[in-house]
Amino acid sequence: MKAIVIGSGVISSAHIEAYRKKGIEIASIVDPVREAREKAAETWGIPHTAATLEEALAYHPDVASLCTPNYLHAPHAVALLEAGVDVISEKPMARTVRECDAMIEAAERTGKRLFVAHSQRLYPPHQHLIDVMRAGTLGKPVMVISTFIGDEYRRMNDPANWKGDFEHSGGGVLIDNGSHMINMLLGAFGPVESVESIGTRALIQPEHKAEDTSVVNLKFRNRTVASLTVTFVARACSFPKGYCGCAIRTEVVAEKGFVTAGNGTPAFQIVDNEGNTLERYEKENEVPAPRPNVLAHILDCIRDGSEPFVTMYDARETVRVIEAAYRSAREGVRVSL
Ligand SMILES: NC(=O)c1ccc[n+]([C@@H]2O[C@H](COP(=O)([O-])OP(=O)(O)OC[C@H]3O[C@@H](n4cnc5c(N)ncnc54)[C@H](O)[C@@H]3O)[C@@H](O)[C@H]2O)c1
Repeated sequence: MKAIVIGSGVISSAHIEAYRKKGIEIASIVDPVREAREKAAETWGIPHTAATLEEALAYHPDVASLCTPNYLHAPHAVALLEAGVDVISEKPMARTVRECDAMIEAAERTGKRLFVAHSQRLYPPHQHLIDVMRAGTLGKPVMVISTFIGDEYRRMNDPANWKGDFEHSGGGVLIDNGSHMINMLLGAFGPVESVESIGTRALIQPEHKAEDTSVVNLKFRNRTVASLTVTFVARACSFPKGYCGCAIRTEVVAEKGFVTAGNGTPAFQIVDNEGNTLERYEKENEVPAPRPNVLAHILDCIRDGSEPFVTMYDARETVRVIEAAYRSAREGVRVSL
């Protein structure tokens, strides 16, 4: 297998490392910013660089990683799939459901494979939460409180950076870190029935930027209700900063017990209604997780033809819920799905 990586920014190193660990050759790294692509090529010993995707296709890759701002995911994915290349897109899949549909249509038409690297869905506390909820041993889930408190203040407040810019990102914190949590909640609790949301650009200055903080209330078809809070401006977050400088936490009140999952201490715990601790893991890496790394998992799926834990349809559903949440915030209404 031969790979190319599109975009040489923050997340590209995770993709490069994943290819290297699997012994997959990276033929070229693509970035219009010359210094950025040459620095990455030098750091990782990648033999070629390219300014455009079209140039990199000359190396006949089998697989490509999209590590670019969100507005480029759909056009690049479609071009790659049509060129016969399997695609691993970063999350969110795209800015809108319409863009997701164009990507899915191209994958279905060409028979090539399209994956979305929803890394947090395979984050051990989240994976285990999903497995426990799906197993049903705690009875009906009732109420969920979920939060992702993060710090992207600098990039989002920079008018020239794509982060949190409507046009290039598709929204603010909700479509960004929020997409991790919506995807995880869909995995644990199933389809969403309705969404109510409010967002605010509380601290971020540039007028063309979207919300830096958002609250989303979800009602699932199984009657569970969830409240998700996400922010990009927690520069003095007092939560433990174990995972990408953020606090990621979910609590579930279920019929037969209470679950805590995330990057605090403990990283995962289940207590039953009699007060017995059924499971408890202090640290994230102690939580049982059969697929600990999303990119390794996706590369295994490409190699053996198996289905990923998060399909392109799941990733599209995440964007559909987010789109409904943005509509709710904009129009001040509850949106049914
Ligand atoms: N899974 C995660 O936890 C996680 C973490 C960070 C970012 N991401 C996702 O990864 C993507 C990239 O985010 P980032 O933080 O690495 O961004 P970044 O700004 O650090 O890097 C993006 C790179 O893409 C390059 N680029 C711009 N236009 C391009 C083009 N036409 N062709 C090729 N390259 C181009 C830019 O020059 C830049 O180097 C986003 O979709 C983001 O949501 C995911």
